Amino acid sequence: MSRLRWSTAGESHGEALLAVIEGLPFGLALDLARIDRELARRQSGFGRSSRQQLERDRVEVVAGAYRGATSGAPLVLRVRNKDQSLPTLPPLHRPRPGHADLAGAIKFDTNDARPVLERSSARETVARVAAGAVAKMVLERVGVRVEGFVAAIGSVVLRDPPGDGFAWIAERDASPVWCPHSATSAAMCDVISAAGAAGDTLGGVVEVRAAGVPAGLGSLMQAGTRLDAALAAAVMSVPSVKAVEIGDGIAAAALGGHAVHDPITFDGGAIRRGSNRAGGIEGGMSNGQPLVVRAYLKPLATTKHAMASVDLRDGTRAPSDPQRSDVCAVPSGAVVVEHVVGLVVLAALLDSVPADTVEDLDSGFRTWVERRAGLPGA
Ligand SMILES: Cc1cc2nc3c(=O)[nH]c(=O)nc-3n(C[C@H](O)[C@H](O)[C@H](O)COP(=O)(O)O)c2cc1C
Repeated sequence: MSRLRWSTAGESHGEALLAVIEGLPFGLALDLARIDRELARRQSGFGRSSRQQLERDRVEVVAGAYRGATSGAPLVLRVRNKDQSLPTLPPLHRPRPGHADLAGAIKFDTNDARPVLERSSARETVARVAAGAVAKMVLERVGVRVEGFVAAIGSVVLRDPPGDGFAWIAERDASPVWCPHSATSAAMCDVISAAGAAGDTLGGVVEVRAAGVPAGLGSLMQAGTRLDAALAAAVMSVPSVKAVEIGDGIAAAALGGHAVHDPITFDGGAIRRGSNRAGGIEGGMSNGQPLVVRAYLKPLATTKHAMASVDLRDGTRAPSDPQRSDVCAVPSGAVVVEHVVGLVVLAALLDSVPADTVEDLDSGFRTWVERRAGLPGA
């Protein structure tokens, strides 16, 4: 089990969403305004519902901090819901295809899927973003930066993804769909508007990059210690993600080995790679190249027009229960996946460089990297 562990609690229309993060080093200054900015990014993509205007997420620290910094205790973060109508919401008897409603109702042997909806709703990802924002703060101390963008919405694909580095961040942040290419971003907005007008929904692809990750995080020793496996599990757990890709994984399956594997060179006293098709991971370990993780999100399940369903009370045919919904949540999904990747990378880092305090982390990280500079074992 990793030193860093996190979990969330809370319902979509309950009092609040909570994140619990254990294993953080002592003494990390908690920049709550920074967490709020990340929460605002999650809320503000084009194509989202009126609820996003209703909610203005603000994080509060409930436990685990002393004088504005982590205390080494479990850190508990809370984001209150503005809409706390859960006690008065009607039961949900007609499950919506594509949601957790039906499988959850069967699992808990109830014909009212309301509690299932409340917990499976992607509002829960507020808590993951809050936790991930803290993870990113720890990572940034040691020069690891994690950022995501939207690579496709429906049929509109970002044809020319940005190169290494983060020069694209300003253009991403100017885009209503978090796509770092203005013409593609405009086309994405158009396709979302058209889908909304037709009462339909759209999915898409998001890409997350983590730069500054040293080689050797994760482990080849067991299935559960592989960094790619941890990333895939965490990213796949984001609602509506149906496929996860590391590097050129999907395209690579159709190519020959010479076209796929990244050449190794030794140049200027350092190991270098001629390309990064592996997405920064080989053998379940980071290899010193930027991590590249892509997530494929299905179109949202709640469409404007109800879909065929049954009433769980008597089995009669009935349209699925209508619920408020977005047209496209891919931009928000990019922010969520980015933060989930941040949590996984920090967990892998703390497994290799255990640290009780942030100062331990600074020095431990320096030592880890310095020892591995040049040729290994030299
Ligand atoms: C940020 C975000 C917002 C979402 N908003 C909606 C929504 O408004 N309507 C909807 O039908 N699904 C939405 N989803 C997806 C559903 O939560 C998800 O499809 C559902 O819980 C079933 O889980 P699964 O798709 O992983 O099987 C959203 C997903 C994310 C990541």
